[in-house]
Amino acid sequence: MITNNFTVIGGSASTNLAKKIARKLKGRYIKPSLKIFPDGEKKITINESMKGKIVIVQSTYPPVDSNLMEALFLISYARHYSSQVYVVIPYLGYARQDKEFLPGEIVSMSVIAKMLKLVGATKVFVVDIHSKMALNHFKIPSQNISAIPELVKHFKRLHLKDPLVVCPDLAGVFRAKNFSKLLGTDFIGLRKYRDRYTGGIEIRSVEQKHVRGRDIILVDDMISTGGSMIEAVKFLKKQGCGHIYAACTHALLIHDAEKNLKKAGILKIVSTNTVPRKTSLVDVSGIIAKEIL
Ligand code: R5P
Repeated sequence: MITNNFTVIGGSASTNLAKKIARKLKGRYIKPSLKIFPDGEKKITINESMKGKIVIVQSTYPPVDSNLMEALFLISYARHYSSQVYVVIPYLGYARQDKEFLPGEIVSMSVIAKMLKLVGATKVFVVDIHSKMALNHFKIPSQNISAIPELVKHFKRLHLKDPLVVCPDLAGVFRAKNFSKLLGTDFIGLRKYRDRYTGGIEIRSVEQKHVRGRDIILVDDMISTGGSMIEAVKFLKKQGCGHIYAACTHALLIHDAEKNLKKAGILKIVSTNTVPRKTSLVDVSGIIAKEIL
């Protein structure tokens, strides 16, 4: 039954998630028709008019630019019908490029933020953005939604005995800290060093804490190639840890990442449906709908 004044448009990268959000908002759901030309151009058709608040849901996992363009097209269309266009980008690509790390680097996040505003977005929602600093580039209201409590609910059901939460990178330690607090256990952060020229990763040091025999939950915002988690696994295994689980919000799992992570020794990967994958065991539609309402 449609009782709220919401129309939810599901982009092709987030069809199922958008449907679930629409249901939770008690809104109307629209699935645009999409044609992809041989050169990769997308043609989108929506043969319906709409009014009230419009919510567009489109993640920007690979193909990142193509999914981003689709989001921009949908926003610009929606803006003709409404002065309130909420844009949900569950996984926001380019969020890692939120500052100039090396001289001359273009701050891509800032350009994306400008484009979203320019085509008509009036508020942007993202889930577990890589760094909150990225949101400073938005000159329209923007909101980050944490999926950590939902991931923790899943891990509570696994009944692991005295697990240690490990963050493979100190930059994300606030997420691991929150995860361990909600799970009722402790955590450590590893010091990851990434060579900004080669992309190579190395774990250089760690807080001294006993990991021997303990099951580990590696917590990160995203897994892309799996390189960060694999380095962490090597490090933890040398210290004689127990089983290793991986929890992340966005499982991009590029190329053979999933196979490589399993081969390295990760027993189970748990992610959310910000990026639809086999590992997406946690649904974020509820927390997104709650923030929109
Ligand atoms: C970076 O700092 C992020 O938090 C992730 O740790 C990273 O992007 C994961 O990438 P990959 O899986 O390729 O190591």
